[in-house]
Amino acid sequence: MKKILVYSRFNRFWHWMQSMLIFFLALTGFEIHGSLNFFGFEQAVTFHNTAAIMFLILIGLAIFWHFTTGEWRQYLPTRKHLRAQVEYYITGIFRNTPHPTKKTALTKLNPLQRLVYLALKILVIPIMVFSGLLYMFYRYPQSSGIQSLNIENLGTIAFLHTAGAFILISFIITHVYLITTGRTLTSNLKAMITGYEVLEHETTIIHHSEQKVISENVIEATK
Ligand code: HEM
Repeated sequence: MKKILVYSRFNRFWHWMQSMLIFFLALTGFEIHGSLNFFGFEQAVTFHNTAAIMFLILIGLAIFWHFTTGEWRQYLPTRKHLRAQVEYYITGIFRNTPHPTKKTALTKLNPLQRLVYLALKILVIPIMVFSGLLYMFYRYPQSSGIQSLNIENLGTIAFLHTAGAFILISFIITHVYLITTGRTLTSNLKAMITGYEVLEHETTIIHHSEQKVISENVIEATK
């Protein structure tokens, strides 16, 4: 077992900023929706719009980071061990069977996480962003001059945006439960705070450049 740097500083910054922003967008969004009463409707709209702009900037930074570091590869879907992973969460976990996949610095995500995170990245978040922006510009057409959106479109936009919000909230609930299912109850949480996690040493043969990254991580961790 070795202590490895799994989550870089930007990775952790992006993760925690994203979780705070989504939480805050959900809170203010459901106030706009009429389900909650915290800030008052007008204030909730202002807060929601500001948080949405911050979220858009963060998404821009994260896209840049994913492509410049090659981290986007973590999300390439695979069917290998997918079934085993699902079975593990349904039954194996309650019988203390070992995790079907091994976590390394290069494969942080199990096959189920890859699928779910990829769907969030290419489907749910884009739907939230596009419906949110259309919603924004529909509500304030005077300055942007988008007149072609009519009232029927707003219904669809509101439906998509609210449905996306429910999906994100369901994801967060499941996510919070699943972070407790790592090597220990808090090992995943600690890793996302400190960046380091105790993992089994790599045994597979890997590409030279990837080996270099791992070696650097191990050196960093042992400093
Ligand atoms: C970049 C992303 C986003 C943008 C641009 C955006 C923008 C907006 C806008 C302009 C509104 C309407 C405000 C008004 O009535 O004046 C709205 C409503 C709402 N937003 Fe967002 N939003 C974003 C992300 C999110 C996220 C991540 C969530 C939840 C997790 C969320 C949840 C909601 C909800 C529930 C409503 C009320 C929908 C309704 O009742 O029709 N939004 N959003």
